[in-house]
Amino acid sequence: MSAPNKSYDPIEVEALKPEEIDRAREAALAAIAAAGDLDALREAKAAHAGATAPLALANREIGALPPQARAEAGKRVGAARGAVTRALAAREEELEAERDERMLVEEAVDVTLPYDRRPAGARHPLTTLSERIEDIFVAMGYEVAEGPEVEAEWFNFDALNMDLDHPARAESDTFFVAGSEGRDSGTVLRTHTSPVQIRSMLDREPPIYVICPGRVYRTDELDATHTPVFNQVELLAVDEGLTMADLKGTLDHMVQSLFGGEGMRTRLRPDYFPFTEPSAEMDMVCYVCRGASVGNPDRPCRTCSSEGWIELGGCGVVNPRVLTACGIDPERYSGFAFGFGIERMLMFRHNVRDMRDLIEADVRFTRPFGMEI
Ligand code: PHE
Repeated sequence: MSAPNKSYDPIEVEALKPEEIDRAREAALAAIAAAGDLDALREAKAAHAGATAPLALANREIGALPPQARAEAGKRVGAARGAVTRALAAREEELEAERDERMLVEEAVDVTLPYDRRPAGARHPLTTLSERIEDIFVAMGYEVAEGPEVEAEWFNFDALNMDLDHPARAESDTFFVAGSEGRDSGTVLRTHTSPVQIRSMLDREPPIYVICPGRVYRTDELDATHTPVFNQVELLAVDEGLTMADLKGTLDHMVQSLFGGEGMRTRLRPDYFPFTEPSAEMDMVCYVCRGASVGNPDRPCRTCSSEGWIELGGCGVVNPRVLTACGIDPERYSGFAFGFGIERMLMFRHNVRDMRDLIEADVRFTRPFGMEI
C-alpha cells in the first residue's frame, strides 16, 4: 500500500475551478463594459466586486484548500479580481469624464441671452407712510376704522354739523353721485374722512379711540399741488374728561414718532370747523431746521420757507352737537379729533416737488422708497 499522496491533495471546490473563475471574471468585465453611467457602474461594482460577488466568495474558499493548493488558487482568483478592479477604475474614469463634459454643455449659462428678470416692484410710499401713522396710534391702543368712499350726504355733512348752506357742500367742491333718472341720490364721494368719525361713534360705545385712513375726493384739477383724489388720516377719541390738552399731547407724540429727535412739537392756531369747537389749525416744527431758520438769513430753510413751522391739518374738540347726533351724552363724554392729508406730509417729508409723481404709478418713483413692509 502506498502512502497517501500528501504533497498534492486537491480538494475539488466548485467555485475555485478555473472555468468558474474565468466565467465570473468575464461576467464582471462584461457588466462593467455595459454600464452606461456612473449609477449603472455602481450597481455592477456591488454585484461583481462587492462582498457577496462570486469572486469574493471564491476568495473565501481558498482557506479551505490544503496548503499546497492555496497558492495556485490564490493566484488565479487574485488575477481575476485584479482585472475586475482595474476595469472598474478605467470605466469609472471614462464615465466621469463623459459626465463632466455633459455638465459643461447642459449647465452652461449663456451670459449673452437677453435679461428677462422682472424688477421687483415696491410698495407705494403713501401706503407705507399711512401704515406707519396707523402703527403709532395702534401702539397707543387705537383701533383702525374704515368707511365707504361713496358716502351718504348725511354722514359726510349733516351729522358733522355742516348744514345745507355750508360752502364745502357746494357743487364746486363736491362730487355728487347721480341718482337714477336724474334724481338726487343723496350720496357723494366723501370729501373728507370725518364721516368715519360718525360711523365709529354709531357703531361703538365710548370710550372710543379710532384712527381712520382713507381716500377722499374733491373737484380739484390735477396739478403740481392738487389732486382730485387724495388720502387723509382722521383721528377720533371720545372718553370722559378729554380736553384740548390731550389733543395737543397726542399730536406732539405723533410728530415725535414720525420725525424723531429733539424739539419736535406742534402748535395750534384758532380756526373754524363746524364739527369741532374749539377748532384749530395744527402746525408742527419744521423737522429740518427745527425753527433755526426763522429770522436767520444765513441759514435759510427750503422745507419750511424759513417759517419754522409746517402746516399739517385741522383739529379740535368734538362739537357737542356731533356727539348728540351720534347718541353720545355730551354732558358725560367729550372728544377730540384731527385730520390731515398724507400726500402733503409725504411731499415735505421726502422733498417731492410734484403731486403728479405720487399718482402716476411709475416704479422709478416708488422704488427709491425701498421695500419697507
Ligand atoms: N375734515 C377736516 C378736513 O378735511 C379736517 C378735520 C378733521 C378738522 C377733524 C377737524 C377735526 O379739512
